[in-house]
Amino acid sequence: MRIDIVSIFPSYLEPVTLSLVGKAAESGIVDVRIHDLRDWTHDRHRTVDDTPYGGGPGMVMSPLPWGEALDAVAQDGNPQLRPLLVIPTPSGMRFTQAVAQEWMSAPWIVIACGRYEGIDSRVALHFATTPNWAGVAEVSIGDYVLAGGEAAALVMVEAVVRLLPGVLGNQESAKDDSFAPGDMEMLLEGAAFTKPPTWRGLEVPEVLLSGNHGRIAAWRAEQAKIRTELQRPDLSPQDQSSR
Ligand code: 6GU
Repeated sequence: MRIDIVSIFPSYLEPVTLSLVGKAAESGIVDVRIHDLRDWTHDRHRTVDDTPYGGGPGMVMSPLPWGEALDAVAQDGNPQLRPLLVIPTPSGMRFTQAVAQEWMSAPWIVIACGRYEGIDSRVALHFATTPNWAGVAEVSIGDYVLAGGEAAALVMVEAVVRLLPGVLGNQESAKDDSFAPGDMEMLLEGAAFTKPPTWRGLEVPEVLLSGNHGRIAAWRAEQAKIRTELQRPDLSPQDQSSR
């Protein structure tokens, strides 16, 4: 999978070279490329924003550098592949585990990180109907407002890349994830423990030391239900059936 990220703060995206995503890149599973939007400006001040039509506070990102940047990124790749344009924005559709699972089969994702009051809306409209692009997804990572799309881009890249074959040490680990859409209800993962068996007077639940895999699986399923009802009643089967 190839991932391009365009931003006015390219150094904000350096964490993609670390940890799980960095290792996936080193082993060739993902090709992550960071670009500075200002490379596609032509004025002395490398201007990327302008005042909003209709008035109001803040600045809007100009479609001019964005158009050039996205054209250039799309041109510099396998012509057989059509990139999906992802625009992180608090006014987008919610990014969920189901979206991460869908995107993991995309061969090429380009993430356009906006700042200020967002990117001129014509950019999303234009690339949604440009033939060499696979489409446009405006997505939000939650109900709060960030200063720009960079932190959201890091979140989405990590959520997608960890699903790619060969990235997780144990491919089973993704299947049991909290929010992994399976054939059952969505449940949060329960508590986890490691050695020592007693720590500061707190014991590891006896069942986990029993070696009885049936009992352990049943206990974990019960714990997942309890945790979900407590922390996320909105995900709990009781709540779901009453909606
Ligand atoms: Cl994707 N971008 C910004 N700027 N704020 C957000 C967000 C995205 N998701 C939640 N808040």
